[in-house]
Amino acid sequence: MRDSIGVFDSGMGGLTVLRALRKHLPGENFVYLGDTARLPYGTKSPQTVIRYAEHAAGVLIDRGVRALVVACNTASGIALEHLRAKYSTVPVFGVVHPGAEAASATMDESGVLVLATESTVAGGAYQKAISRLRRDARVYARACPLWVTLAEQGIVDGPLTAAVVDHDLRGFDAEGPSTILLGCTHYPVFKGYLRKRLPGIHIVDSAETTALVVSAVLGRNKQTSTGEEVFLATDGIGRFKRVGRYFLGRPINDVELIDLQ
Ligand code: DGL
Repeated sequence: MRDSIGVFDSGMGGLTVLRALRKHLPGENFVYLGDTARLPYGTKSPQTVIRYAEHAAGVLIDRGVRALVVACNTASGIALEHLRAKYSTVPVFGVVHPGAEAASATMDESGVLVLATESTVAGGAYQKAISRLRRDARVYARACPLWVTLAEQGIVDGPLTAAVVDHDLRGFDAEGPSTILLGCTHYPVFKGYLRKRLPGIHIVDSAETTALVVSAVLGRNKQTSTGEEVFLATDGIGRFKRVGRYFLGRPINDVELIDLQ
């Protein structure tokens, strides 16, 4: 599709970013690619994440997109500079910097707790970005690998969610950081439980802040688009339609199955 913005994620979680983009850029055309065959990226080595991200971005570039949004936090944290260097003809947006900016603006002296995948936490992209913006900031980070599985299964509340989330938040309580940064596409679905568990907590969601940045930059140059959407996935298109609607907030009718290499 001509004159569109390409968005990619390791799977369906990035649909939370597309949802926010659609809110801020209602007339824009989008091509969304979920690399469902290779999810999760969040447990992979940096070399593999970079390779996968380059494949996904390459497909969207070949489809003629005029900008790329890396909705996946893991790929944004690890592969963004590689993508910018390789695909220098289009603007490439990631979710880490907008999320870090929002967290820096929100947090107080108690600091911020970054929740993300193992690879994102290990790579330290959020921790570094926040510390660059607020040198005195207390930045904590914790990997929550099981949350992706729970979200994919639609288990976002109840005893199982409570057990996993409570385990991952051990050591953090009302005395801890007053801001949580959700540094993974799948985690916004746990906002409700997090608010119950930590009343008064400020939750920063990088999907929303990224959409604001993209619309601020691209909105000004907007060409004539008709608000169309194309969905691509590398596996399980039935599941993509069924589960993806919960992340996107509306039904998904057609998904094209593609291969990446
Ligand atoms: N999309 C990934 C992220 O935001 C989460 C799922 C995965 O591990 O691939 O980090």
